[in-house]
Amino acid sequence: MIIVLLGYMGSGKSSVGRILAEKLSYNLIDLDDYIIEKENTSVSEIFKTKGEVYFRKKETEYLKELLQLEDNTVLALGGGTPCFAGNMEAILASDKAVSVYLKGSLQFLSKKLFVKKAKRPLIAHIETEALMTEFIGKHLFERSQFYNQAEIHVVTDNKKKIEIVEDIILELF
Ligand code: S3P
Repeated sequence: MIIVLLGYMGSGKSSVGRILAEKLSYNLIDLDDYIIEKENTSVSEIFKTKGEVYFRKKETEYLKELLQLEDNTVLALGGGTPCFAGNMEAILASDKAVSVYLKGSLQFLSKKLFVKKAKRPLIAHIETEALMTEFIGKHLFERSQFYNQAEIHVVTDNKKKIEIVEDIILELF
């Protein structure tokens, strides 16, 4: 089984993924880290020098490769991964993959991302918390149509990472 964690930036995919993989003795692959390793540069640098379209191409290519090759793996996606190039369809069509949406509220995500925006090229330029909320509100609305297709939904607000992991395990087994 490949447990695919998806959701908006800041929803905890990487940190929840780490604990979940440890609990299940699964491998952990963080798609952003995988891209960074393969491309030998940071996500921000890829966006800056090669552009978002190049990043999306690589993201799709590596996602499809991992869905083919891996098993017993927790795969933490980037926030945009399910929303481009038929990626959500590919995840849903995979016999091995189970998709899990880590669902944070606008208020929760916006507060967290305002202090953690630097490494995220899509939001790094946003100057006030009010503008961050406005941007994320629209973006999350557009993306929810993809996230909502996930087979399992877990609400994350005000929960400890371990509680989120326990909720996922309860839904899965
Ligand atoms: C993105 C989310 C980021 C990263 C890139 C684009 C997005 O991952 O893939 O900056 O489009 O939402 P995180 O969700 O881990 O921040």
